[in-house]
Amino acid sequence: MPAIASSAPGKIILFGEHAVVYHRPAIAVPLTGVKAKVTALADPLAPAGQVKIDAPDIHLQTTLEKLPEDDPIAIVIRGVLETLGIRSLPAVTLRITSSIPASAGLGSSAAVAAALARAASTFVGHPLSDEQVSQIAFRAEQRLHGNPSGIDNSVVAHARPVYFIRGRAIEFLHLAEPFSLVIADTGIPSATMDMVGALRERWQADPEQHEAWFDRIAEIVDRARSILDNGGCEQLGPLMDANHDLLRTLGVSCAELDRLVEQALRAGALGAKLSGAGGGGNMIALVQAGDEERIAARLRESGAVWTRSTVVSPQGVK
Ligand code: MEV
Repeated sequence: MPAIASSAPGKIILFGEHAVVYHRPAIAVPLTGVKAKVTALADPLAPAGQVKIDAPDIHLQTTLEKLPEDDPIAIVIRGVLETLGIRSLPAVTLRITSSIPASAGLGSSAAVAAALARAASTFVGHPLSDEQVSQIAFRAEQRLHGNPSGIDNSVVAHARPVYFIRGRAIEFLHLAEPFSLVIADTGIPSATMDMVGALRERWQADPEQHEAWFDRIAEIVDRARSILDNGGCEQLGPLMDANHDLLRTLGVSCAELDRLVEQALRAGALGAKLSGAGGGGNMIALVQAGDEERIAARLRESGAVWTRSTVVSPQGVK
């Protein structure tokens, strides 16, 4: 049996993170320049049904039966078996690698789960649909992140720009025109579960005020959607600034993210905001075509440990 290789991209949340957990809309795009990849290689000499896991990036070499029941890798493989109605995989080595920076708000855990579900199901000759892959990745996200909205697994499994409202069918966006973004990593690991959990406590303490802030984010998301649908992308800049201000108010930014946002704006970005769970991780800046490298350089001088210039276009995101 030949080796099967499957992959899933990273993601960027353009607008609406955190409020999306509270059933407000959010917009995310796949980041195809970075990927999680899973190769499934038949292991004819291994005992029947043995599933070896080889994840060199995280120094993990084990077998499925040795993983705890609630390990995200085990959750995904069990999800594939259940969805396909089979009891086990033929003996196989699943090699997991990823170029998506981890704990950085770029969807690395969801992408690994999606690539794994896709590789395991393709290996047994029954590739799952993108939506089935997304649902299985969601179970692993629940284990890792507690109360995820489902936006990360949706955008990486479908690998298309999405307008997402928790509990409703996903809408795919058809972007009217391309625009340029610079992504910059603070280098501070960000734990989605902690950020979402801490915000929940603040929401519980003052639900009325938080609901009002979430409503303002929802208005921004809907205005952004109309621009993405119809064109005039430079107008996204002020909306990004307003979204970042509200995320600061919600308490999910940090000094390093605020500094990178401010430096991007000073260097001429049209707008900037944190992207993902916050508290560290990545920010994004909307820039005029041709300004990417200059603004990325300014962000690195200002402490970013990783930057990437990318064009979000109707065809995809590099
Ligand atoms: C994380 O990428 C996005 C959050 O809104 C959490 C979620 O939607 O599950 C912070």
